[in-house]
Amino acid sequence: MSTMVRATAPSNIAFVKYWGKRDAARQWPANDSISMTLSSARTVTTATPRPDQMNDTLFMNERSVDLTGKSGSKAHAQLARLRAAVAQTTGGATPSLSLSTKNTFPASCGIASSASGLMALTLAALGAWTGASTVEALGRAGFGRARLRELARLGSGSACRSLDGGYVRWYAGSSPGEQSASPLHDAAHWPLADVIVVLSSGEKAVGSTEGHAAAWTSPLFGPRLAGLDRRLSAVTKALAERDLERLGDELEAEALEMHAVMMSATPGVNYFAERTAPFLAWVREERAKGRLPAWFTLDAGPNPHLIAKAQDAADVASRVRARWGDDTHMIIDRAGTGAELELASP
Ligand code: DP6
Repeated sequence: MSTMVRATAPSNIAFVKYWGKRDAARQWPANDSISMTLSSARTVTTATPRPDQMNDTLFMNERSVDLTGKSGSKAHAQLARLRAAVAQTTGGATPSLSLSTKNTFPASCGIASSASGLMALTLAALGAWTGASTVEALGRAGFGRARLRELARLGSGSACRSLDGGYVRWYAGSSPGEQSASPLHDAAHWPLADVIVVLSSGEKAVGSTEGHAAAWTSPLFGPRLAGLDRRLSAVTKALAERDLERLGDELEAEALEMHAVMMSATPGVNYFAERTAPFLAWVREERAKGRLPAWFTLDAGPNPHLIAKAQDAADVASRVRARWGDDTHMIIDRAGTGAELELASP
């Protein structure tokens, strides 16, 4: 039985970063990571079985994506992986799919779309093929939550942290097969905001997949890994105790450490834009003066994410505007709930 379904998956922002893989083919990360699931930054993907079509088709933000070309390669590989998983699990038919996907956030705004995108694609395709129209029903069809995280992770590592809401840890384990991810707290435990400041919306010069591979060449990568157990414990404790100062200091050190690894790798990658470093310095100065209750983190891009208490988000955004210009593009998001699957009508 096949069905038209809609999956909605959130993006996430890492507090302790996934950067570097021990095994790229099996998507085994160098270290555990911890992220906050976002609320409004989501990918919505609809899948319709089309037995009459020869091949899968994908529309992204209303534009056709060539699944055999570079821009469609992650989705194409993921669909092949999911077909094999269905063949192995239920033996059911996996007809061609007509897929349509939209991000609720603008492209190149500093929110990674691969985490939400690969999780949404995984849920939508499996739902369409198995006839399951909820995440629970997927579980009954042989695709429980651990399996969903694993399949999404094989498409893009950070996607395994996008099934659950709140604060999620991805455990590397001691072998590729022993990995897991699970929520540490739900969003209600601590409603933090993420004020994303779009300093530059240009395309990234180097994608994160290539960056992961270069991490091992950085002389700073070994020392980073050696210090991560302490950082993971400190972040876990700060989350449990809702201690923003403690969390914030770890967040900033962590983001700068990852970027130092990126810059000192061979080939080195500098994701900073012209205003990134001055902006980060300004955040620290303002906070020291008691005027900005926010701490920064960065992903593989130039745009700072300011983490603050939800009630302070509007004030943080207005202080950013006062210093960096009224036209500064910002996205104000917060900790949110996990991915969902539902029936869709044509
Ligand atoms: C900097 O998950 O995009 O955002 O597994 O190669 O698809 P692939 O990489 P990806 O890497 C994310 C890197 C990061 C940090 C993080 O989200 O933990």
